[in-house]
Amino acid sequence: MTPDTPAPWWATAVIYQVYPRSFCDSDGDGIGDLPGIISKLDHIAALGADAIWVSPFFRSPQRDAGYDVSDYCDVDPLFGTLDDADALIAQAHARGLKVIADIVPNHTSSDHEWFVEALESPHGSDERDRYFFRDGRGDGGIEPPNNWTSVFGGPAWTRVPGGVGPHGVQQWYLHLFDSSQPDLNWDNPWVAQRFDQILRFWFDRGIDGFRIDVANGLAKAPGLPDAIPTALGVGGESAPVNHPYWNRDQVHEVWRRWRAIAQSYDTERALVGEAWVLPLDRMAQWVRPDELHQTFNFAYLLARWDAEQLRNVIEESLRAFGGVGAPSTWVLSNHDTIRHPSRLALTAAPPHGLGLGQSSPEHPDPSRAEAIGRAASLLMLALPGSAYVYQGEELGLQEALDIPDDARQDPTWFRTEGAAYGRDGCRVPLPWVADAPAYGFSPSGASWLPQPAEFRAKAAQLQEADPESTLALYRTAIRLRRELALAQGTLTWNASEASTLDALITPPAHAAARSGGVRVVVNVSENAIPLPPGKVLVASGSVGDTIAPHTTVWLDVQDEA
Ligand code: NOJ
Repeated sequence: MTPDTPAPWWATAVIYQVYPRSFCDSDGDGIGDLPGIISKLDHIAALGADAIWVSPFFRSPQRDAGYDVSDYCDVDPLFGTLDDADALIAQAHARGLKVIADIVPNHTSSDHEWFVEALESPHGSDERDRYFFRDGRGDGGIEPPNNWTSVFGGPAWTRVPGGVGPHGVQQWYLHLFDSSQPDLNWDNPWVAQRFDQILRFWFDRGIDGFRIDVANGLAKAPGLPDAIPTALGVGGESAPVNHPYWNRDQVHEVWRRWRAIAQSYDTERALVGEAWVLPLDRMAQWVRPDELHQTFNFAYLLARWDAEQLRNVIEESLRAFGGVGAPSTWVLSNHDTIRHPSRLALTAAPPHGLGLGQSSPEHPDPSRAEAIGRAASLLMLALPGSAYVYQGEELGLQEALDIPDDARQDPTWFRTEGAAYGRDGCRVPLPWVADAPAYGFSPSGASWLPQPAEFRAKAAQLQEADPESTLALYRTAIRLRRELALAQGTLTWNASEASTLDALITPPAHAAARSGGVRVVVNVSENAIPLPPGKVLVASGSVGDTIAPHTTVWLDVQDEA
């Protein structure tokens, strides 16, 4: 891709993440479903998104909200049927929206027939070699085979249920996540072949791409050696080089294989990796021309609301991704992290992975969170590349802090015995209508997680009618982003105060009649700052002669250029 050729769809897309169980419930069971998503596609199209990424809707016992798949080629009855999936793809396409599905290759559910067969098969069998079964250490093998820990807390090994097998040994199996999510053995070609078939199954049905779950965990070190105990970060991004299970080089072989499959279709399908990999130069290796199309920019998500951190991570991202010819991506929120208005408003280091709840040491101030959340969103939507928007962020939703202990569902909560709240607070079902049961989420008023009272004022229907709403802000920003070709633009910094970001985004010559570009000024401070010259295109907060604290403004500088 050169600056003068139009970018492929995924390179500049705004991709809207739908978390099916919390988006819209059509049948009243309190859990969102595919017909519910279809009924709200107009909302996503009106937002101006180019694509939806739908978190897993495949058959699953739902012990990790669908990231524990028991059949990759069928839809869980909770969410609908294969016909509903076909209808979702067709209805999205009819509105010009691409559809990205979410594939989970690191592990299956323990209910998957492959794992059930493995349990029923003897020690050393082909069936067991699809996963990691090992004898334990110590007398009678009562200690786990190594010291690896689960991302959700506790050991990464569980003893095979049902006592001693026919070979006289009760083995252990590996799970980097919940014990209901046994890890697949990607050294076994049988596993890779099955996933080729799964990719084709969905590509043939019209899926435009895949988000790849735990893309940094598939390769394990030969012999499964102990890990040197060290901080691993949220998803393994702090793991050192040559860590026994995070970010091993062998994963790149899988991506080359998958890229070839994606490219075998007439219209190129996109692959985006959930890869918690730092530094950015290392992450950029994942999006080399024959590997994935994109990875989530978690370095950006991890940055605090701090001008220097933001400037550095933006600069580094554009340099590192650009260095391998890939567009950068930007993401602030998803179903695994504290919603960004709340997270960025915290004054102490955010407790990633721990979540936020009633007994957390700090509760973000809601007004401050609103201002910072809007300013952060307006900055992200100006940046060159592709942006991911998590459902509800366009409504300005904040983390739900008041979920009662007995309503919590995240395995993290259970595996840490309540020490970590986990991710329920960002997964609460959306408010669509202010004065309707479950705020319009479900016709019966049921909701799998309780919705906080403050969701009422954030209902989409109220925001539709309010030009000052966060929904209106997102719509305006995404429309201007497209009209002004910002996603294909080039970013240069203007000199500024330490607590201000001041960038000029210049569109490529072929993409826009304008020459001046857009000046993006972000006031990352508690004090108002002077408004520079230029016509205000959109602002996240109040702007007069000055820019209010925690506010982003886009200025048309065509005349000044
Ligand atoms: C990352 C997913 O985003 C998360 O929700 C899930 O729990 C883990 N991977 C395990 O699949």
